[in-house]
Amino acid sequence: MKISNATWTSAEEHPLTAENLRLLLDNRIAAIRIKGFASPDECHRFAAAAKQGNMQYYNVADRIGYIGLAQFQYRWNRSKEEFLADVPKARADVEQVFANSFDPLARVMQRLQAAWPYEVDFAREDGQPYFAGIIRSTSDKIDLHVDWAPVNSPDYAIGAIDGQLGWNFFAEELQSGGHTTVHNSPWDPAVTPGEIPKSYGLERSLVEGAPSFKYRPTAGDVVIFNTRNPHEIAPGTAAPGGSRVSIGSFIGRMPDKRLVLWA
Ligand SMILES: [Fe+2]
Repeated sequence: MKISNATWTSAEEHPLTAENLRLLLDNRIAAIRIKGFASPDECHRFAAAAKQGNMQYYNVADRIGYIGLAQFQYRWNRSKEEFLADVPKARADVEQVFANSFDPLARVMQRLQAAWPYEVDFAREDGQPYFAGIIRSTSDKIDLHVDWAPVNSPDYAIGAIDGQLGWNFFAEELQSGGHTTVHNSPWDPAVTPGEIPKSYGLERSLVEGAPSFKYRPTAGDVVIFNTRNPHEIAPGTAAPGGSRVSIGSFIGRMPDKRLVLWA
């Protein structure tokens, strides 16, 4: 049984400022929302371009479509070299979507850099950039999990971060449901050297009694939260013929306070 180790002083949304970014990285506030990040026309064009893009599926059973790649796909069975070799193709796939609409990744990086006094850039492994900005299309639920590189990916450069956030931009909304719940019970599992603990499909006992924060994904906004907190997405209902197109990545704070992005 895990004892809740809550750290929030505010379970509300806040605007993007340097101070709020620091508080979110230190897990003292629940979320940052950038309202009106994109216009309705940009949202429409981005969703349309994504649906024409190189959409892939994790397996045939689920319906979570994505464009780009996620580093966690390489965590267990594939090498770092394979991961880095696959980055350019993933980048080309999302850049095609950006070229046909607009570039939310560059805009997020500009907004972060405008607020943060240290460098904001892609994460790098021996100088080679990671991929960031994975596009997703789904209305399915996502089970309780955490994203925390020091435990998930200790052998990668991102394993050195001391705070991890996730940002998501929503180009479309669901008709109902689909909210994200973040539980303030920062993940601190027992780690056996050489083993990576399970971080997906976590037990409810991990979040019992912890403060939680629920946000609705509103089209045109970016929401950022600390992904070391267990979080989950409720199933939703898409508009007829629709889905929910979003793009996001992680933001880590390195020991020298640079922010690095990867997906
Ligand atoms: Fe997550």
